[in-house]
Amino acid sequence: MPDNKDHWYDGLFYDLFIAPNQDRVFAQVKEMLPEGSTVLDIGCGTGRLASQLLDKCGKIVVIDPSERNIKIARRKFAGLPSGKIVVGRMDGFEFLATNDLHFDFITMSYVVHEIHEDDRAILLRAAAAVADRIILVDYLAPQPGNYCGVLNQLVEYAAGPEHYRNFKSFMRKGGITGLLKELHLRTLNELKNRPCSSHIAVVEGKKGRDKSGRALPSAWETGNRSSCDVVDEGSTRRIGSLNPRDRHGGQKDDRAGENHKRAGGQPGDR
Ligand SMILES: C[S@@+](CC[C@H](N)C(=O)[O-])C[C@H]1O[C@@H](n2cnc3c(N)ncnc32)[C@H](O)[C@@H]1O
Repeated sequence: MPDNKDHWYDGLFYDLFIAPNQDRVFAQVKEMLPEGSTVLDIGCGTGRLASQLLDKCGKIVVIDPSERNIKIARRKFAGLPSGKIVVGRMDGFEFLATNDLHFDFITMSYVVHEIHEDDRAILLRAAAAVADRIILVDYLAPQPGNYCGVLNQLVEYAAGPEHYRNFKSFMRKGGITGLLKELHLRTLNELKNRPCSSHIAVVEGKKGRDKSGRALPSAWETGNRSSCDVVDEGSTRRIGSLNPRDRHGGQKDDRAGENHKRAGGQPGDR
């Protein structure tokens, strides 16, 4: 089991009073996703972004180490087929190290500023290795000197000393722009200050290839490979599967190839 990473505001408080403030940003993220994409949402919180992407995504895996947040996310998605959405209490580093899947998109919304400065690049690099694209949403650096900027500072301060230290260092190091520059990752599209004080960047990943250039299994093209089961909480416990056979009695879901081609992909490029 991972350490419990709850903050005082996680759970119901986050779901009712904080997450709804991101709806405009989440709508922009949704616009950026091609229909039918497979998505991994790292640091999903209570699942609000995922719930807005569900009707557009093919399949989505959402993970978060906070027990209270993930409990609400699980409740939100209860009843949906596990082939559509998989919810796991798990840290992003751990997930990327233990699950060998490829996603069209990885989303991280207001997660990177919480990560210690020594670890941000590690997380991003690992994410870039298994996804075609990463959509990063976070605070714009520097923050505008208006009401939004001041409010964000206060919120981050209230989140606790460690959290605030990470936020300050994220700002000092140039936020998303600074991080992407350090990693030499290419920005394909970005929106700054829309809505106020946010930064959304679509970043090019490594097309899900391993070190030797071999394609990792895609969440669309899972067949019956066990590596496509999603493993939760650092154990071998299976929390769900992205295997289309689990839902369609052995018939392969073929929308994958079509969607991928529509989004400009080449057959066999993963
Ligand atoms: C500010 S909340 C954002 C939640 C959600 N993405 C949103 O935009 O509403 C940040 C989330 O990142 C999660 N988080 C922090 N460190 C993480 C890590 N190493 N891996 C995955 N999630 C992490 C926290 O538990 C928290 O739920």
